[in-house]
Amino acid sequence: MNSDQRDFLSFFKVLTLVGLILFLVGGQAVAEEEYDEDAYGPEAPIVFVTPVKAVIFTHKIHTMDAGLDCESCHDSLFQMEIGNAEQNDDFTMQSLYDGQYCGACHDGSTAFASNTRCTVCHIGVKGFDRMQGEPQTAAHGGH
Ligand code: HEC
Ligand code: HEC
Ligand code: HEC
Repeated sequence: MNSDQRDFLSFFKVLTLVGLILFLVGGQAVAEEEYDEDAYGPEAPIVFVTPVKAVIFTHKIHTMDAGLDCESCHDSLFQMEIGNAEQNDDFTMQSLYDGQYCGACHDGSTAFASNTRCTVCHIGVKGFDRMQGEPQTAAHGGH
């Protein structure tokens, strides 16, 4: 092998290595971007505006991150229909404290208690306005 051939060979090795790195990094980036709605529920955050504006719920945090399956909420606690719970007069903090709705888990043992960290769930009017264009709500009509 002459030196030209050797140069070519090492150049080729570097090229292969760079290609491999790009492939791995690229593959990972794609994997992170993908969110399977069939496996984890709707991707868009759900925002409740009744009775108070506004409370945020994210499927990803509960399914993909916390590992809950659909049956832990559907259909015993919530229907698979945005706006359903908001039609109930008892969709209130008292119900949560009594173990209904979000309070079935947000009781201080399965997940943080409903009488703590108010602002984690309550994004308020400002948070709601900031999210405009992104969230789905069933406010005003719908079903
Ligand atoms: C921690 C509770 C929880 C879990 C777990 C959960 N969901 Fe949901 N889901 C909700 C809530 C809350 C709503 C809104 C219900 C309402 O507004 O009354 C909802 C609504 C939905 C909707 C209606 C969306 C729309 O546009 O009307 C679908 C579809 C859905 N969920 C699918 C799933 C699937 C599939 C899974 C399992 C991979 C899942 N959910 C797991 C709480 C949960
Ligand atoms: C089936 C159980 C279950 C139900 C029902 C449930 N959650 Fe959760 N939630 C969890 C678990 C588990 C976590 C992750 C652990 C933690 O943060 O304590 C979590 C985390 C969260 C977080 C993220 C907290 C953070 O640190 O970012 C929010 C916000 C939240 N839940 C809101 C809600 C709302 C709003 C509802 C009702 C519409 C609800 N959850 C219903 C189990 C539940
Ligand atoms: C686990 C999520 C969660 C946490 C934590 C939470 N809330 Fe709520 N809250 C809700 C949901 C869901 C509703 C009903 C939907 C809506 O009003 O948008 C609600 C409704 C309310 C309402 C109107 C109904 C009522 O009960 O009068 C008030 C006021 C309220 N929350 C205050 C608080 C305060 C204060 C805290 C902290 C001590 C708190 N919330 C913590 C989820 C939460």
